Amino acid sequence: MSVDLSGDQYFSSNPAPDSIHRHAELVRDFIASHPDRRIALVTSGGTTVPLEKRTVRFIDNFSAGTRGAKSAEHFLDAGYAVIFMHREFSLTPYAQHWSHLKDGFLGLLTEDPTGVVTVDSERQQEVLRVFRKYKKTRDDNLLLLIPFTTVTDYLHELRSIARLLDSVGSNGLLYLAAAVSDFFIPPDRMSEHKIQSTDAADATPTDKVAGKGGENDLAEEEFDNFDSCPPVLRSKRLVIDLDPVPKFLKALVEAWAPGCMVVSFKLETDPNLLIEKAKIALARYQHDLVVGNLLETRQKEVVFVTPGGAEEWIRLPKTGEVKEIEGLIVPAIIRLHDEYIKSHDQKK
Ligand code: PMT
Repeated sequence: MSVDLSGDQYFSSNPAPDSIHRHAELVRDFIASHPDRRIALVTSGGTTVPLEKRTVRFIDNFSAGTRGAKSAEHFLDAGYAVIFMHREFSLTPYAQHWSHLKDGFLGLLTEDPTGVVTVDSERQQEVLRVFRKYKKTRDDNLLLLIPFTTVTDYLHELRSIARLLDSVGSNGLLYLAAAVSDFFIPPDRMSEHKIQSTDAADATPTDKVAGKGGENDLAEEEFDNFDSCPPVLRSKRLVIDLDPVPKFLKALVEAWAPGCMVVSFKLETDPNLLIEKAKIALARYQHDLVVGNLLETRQKEVVFVTPGGAEEWIRLPKTGEVKEIEGLIVPAIIRLHDEYIKSHDQKK
């Protein structure tokens, strides 16, 4: 079997989501309404890999979209317009501040004696601060939310939006923080309906009980509870055979958005692999920055690996004003984006 390295075969054999054209329209309008502003495309959250076409089950990953949602807020604080491409129902900017609470936003509320519901006095300042930012972002139309679910939706949306964003040239920044599946089931091997755990629908167990002398008798071991009536066919093992998802970063950098700055994230669990893998990605895809992070410590430290091979660790101090690492990552990336824009202006 040949593996598709360009991605073209992947896009032609894996259908785009129904929403793709509607989303493209939204993105086109959004970009047109911010002619002189920097625009960041932030991808966020995990992608799913369906096991069935009419999907009951899917493979998922750990990402809740924390990195993406927090980073988007910092880009907005810095004056960027943000296209936030996120896994549906994962964390979103501003709402993320309370999503982790056991009772969600209800936990913030209190009722006064007249029956009016307000924010609890202890949370007023915090809610007001975030609400004002949210309101300004909404009123100035600075944030566009584009949801995806599967890895195929993600790749189609990314290609479509990246191509549109390329129209803003060096003012565009792609910040690829989503956790993208490396493996998937191609449509020609995917079951149309829910995968069955037994062959019960094909067999008529009462006719096929071992030892009853029928033509189609099944052996005893084919049943889970041989003594019960009616007998229950034994559940099958499910063996999943996944293909690699083609790496799309090269196409992104060379063809979809060649004028924009591209930052990818590299996730590893083995510290010995992180920097080496980040360097390999930079050499292979020729983009502008890899932000490396380890699963366990991703909220506390990341490493910037740049095309020249430099490595710079960014660590969240235990005390101080900055409370989340995205408050250090995003300003550092904006400084690199300043340089990127300058160097592209000089080439003009
Ligand atoms: O959401 P949080 O819990 O806050 O977690 C944040 C995060 C750990 C998910 C985030 O910081 C992060 O590391 N995101 C990238 C995860 C990832 O996909 O890593 P990877 O090593 O599998 O892929 C590296 C790069 O290759 C990614 O930029 C990805 O976009 C790209 N890729 C991946 C798969 C694929 N088929 N083609 C690709 O080009």
